[in-house]
Amino acid sequence: MKFEILTLFPEMIMDSLRTSILGRAMEKGIISARAVNIRDYADNKHHSVDDYTYGGGAGMLMQAQPVYDCIHAVLSQSGGDARAKESDASPSVRQMLDEREKTRVIYVTPQGRVFDQAMAEEFSGVDELIFLCGHYEGIDERVLEETVTDYVSIGDYVLTGGELPALVMIDAIARLIPGVLGSEESAPGDSFQNGLLEYPQYSRPAIWHGKEVPQVLLSGDHAKVEDWRLEQSIKRTGERRPDLYAAWEKTEAAAQWRKKQEKRRKKAEQKKRKEAKKAEQKEEKQ
Ligand code: ADE
Repeated sequence: MKFEILTLFPEMIMDSLRTSILGRAMEKGIISARAVNIRDYADNKHHSVDDYTYGGGAGMLMQAQPVYDCIHAVLSQSGGDARAKESDASPSVRQMLDEREKTRVIYVTPQGRVFDQAMAEEFSGVDELIFLCGHYEGIDERVLEETVTDYVSIGDYVLTGGELPALVMIDAIARLIPGVLGSEESAPGDSFQNGLLEYPQYSRPAIWHGKEVPQVLLSGDHAKVEDWRLEQSIKRTGERRPDLYAAWEKTEAAAQWRKKQEKRRKKAEQKKRKEAKKAEQKEEKQ
């Protein structure tokens, strides 16, 4: 998987990626990441990339030309575009993207679809992700129309630029790529993997500040532990994220859980009745 981040602050991206788990994955060659400075593609001698907005209003806008040329260069390099070599007619960004199913250009913007685990999973199956990070008041609409495949936000709040959102998304996507997380780090019980929040976890010591680790976790009964964890996940999701819980309740997994709970309830009732009957018989004998 190749990540290309088009930005005015390349050091902000690379410093962060190098010092994380992703840095190790880059060293191992499982992923590659490159920050490309949009300013290098400005065709004016001052290398300026922004200008006032038509129609007035505060703030500056990133101009179409440097952004377009930057994306064009990245796609030409990464695809080794055959036509660019065979003839003088260089294909447009749109033409290159139409020919590459597994390349996406993500414009990081509060006006996009809100990023979630399902999107992270979808993007983790792509070969090349190009993140376009805006600054100032945004980017000229015309270049976005010609280059962007996905508009993605990380939440309903506004940041000063797209670099932090791009890093957030890259982290969430990359950790899903096989080999990026070591086996001790990978967690199939991750929050959101099954539409629920993760269950509470405990490590040594078994008693800390007078608080005991739940007994079931020390029992060595794997099936019981799994059941307890699912139960805790459901409870926690209901308490902390009622929106997620409402969606989970409609799933097949939830139907199965309810069935299992019902079976358990009946079994417990039966046991209680049996015990009551036994006690009754014992009393009659006395
Ligand atoms: N750029 C500024 N704010 C943003 C957000 N919330 N998500 C994505 N990109 C942004």
